[in-house]
Amino acid sequence: MSATPPVPVRRLLVVGAGIMGSGVAAQAALAGWTVDLYDVQPAFLDRGMAALRRDLEALRQRGGVSAEERDRAEGRVHPALSLDRAREVSVVLEAAPERLELKRGIFKELDRRAGPETLLASNTSSLSITALASATSRPDQVVGIHFFNPVLRMKLVELIPGVRTGPGTLQRARAFAEELGKTVTVSQDAPGFVTSRAMAVLVNEAIWMLHDGVATREDIDQAHKLGFHHPMGPLELADLVGLDTLLSVLERLYTGFRDPKYRACPLLVNLVEAGRLGRKSGQGFYVYGAPGPSPPAAGGPTS
Ligand SMILES: NC(=O)c1ccc[n+]([C@@H]2O[C@H](COP(=O)([O-])OP(=O)(O)OC[C@H]3O[C@@H](n4cnc5c(N)ncnc54)[C@H](O)[C@@H]3O)[C@@H](O)[C@H]2O)c1
Repeated sequence: MSATPPVPVRRLLVVGAGIMGSGVAAQAALAGWTVDLYDVQPAFLDRGMAALRRDLEALRQRGGVSAEERDRAEGRVHPALSLDRAREVSVVLEAAPERLELKRGIFKELDRRAGPETLLASNTSSLSITALASATSRPDQVVGIHFFNPVLRMKLVELIPGVRTGPGTLQRARAFAEELGKTVTVSQDAPGFVTSRAMAVLVNEAIWMLHDGVATREDIDQAHKLGFHHPMGPLELADLVGLDTLLSVLERLYTGFRDPKYRACPLLVNLVEAGRLGRKSGQGFYVYGAPGPSPPAAGGPTS
């Protein structure tokens, strides 16, 4: 008589409660997962939980869920200021800022704390999964699971196996993303994978056009929306993604390929240095008022 296989634990730890972490937490909770949402300071957790509530309420207003489903999903998300739960979860999704050494430190810590079977995933837009995996003693269990912004609206998840990612890990990542209602593509571990490489070039070129005075920001965005049927213009998209994240992606492409076509426009560098990071700081190419408003209804493909 064969033993019944154990029911997998549907518990997720999200590391980083920013734009993406709060979105993935909401998406997993809607799919019935219990979620621990970790960040380094109470204020960042509060901001992440507020964004999560706002996203779930916007979904209810669009008719995507009932008020009861919204409340149940919210109730499944537990803010956390420590990584203690890493031992109990089946999946960890790291969604911290796009900086390699920061992320490698997180993976090192997760390696120490997570259970032996835990899937260790990164939501990185551009960094090397292989380099993140090398910070652990279990590179076969590390994979890129790249969600898109805004998570509740965007269908795609890009999966990225590192050089040493095991086939079972990739299968588990696929099952996880599909359970959350996403459609999966697989990209190799090259800088920016498929999506961020294409996005960063387009958006950087739009910023160069603004820098060179080719057109106003409004006309650059309008030209892309009406001329190419893009749901949002590239400068609006940059503000949605976060200009710091966009700059990190371009730097990864520039150093990864050693190709000047990825050189970040100085206007982007200046805005980041001025703290104008886009929607999350209240101002980027456009002014938004209070930091962190919801993305526009149209949504759009992002890093
Ligand atoms: N913004 C996008 O459109 C987008 C889309 C897809 C993927 N990504 C990727 O997702 C990741 C997160 O991006 P984001 O836009 O959510 O960034 P964000 O700046 O909105 O959020 C990052 C969060 O990580 C927290 N953090 C900082 N140090 C930390 C640490 N040591 N441990 C845990 N958390 C820490 C910050 O407090 C912040 O809340 C990045 O790798 C980014 O490239 C971003």
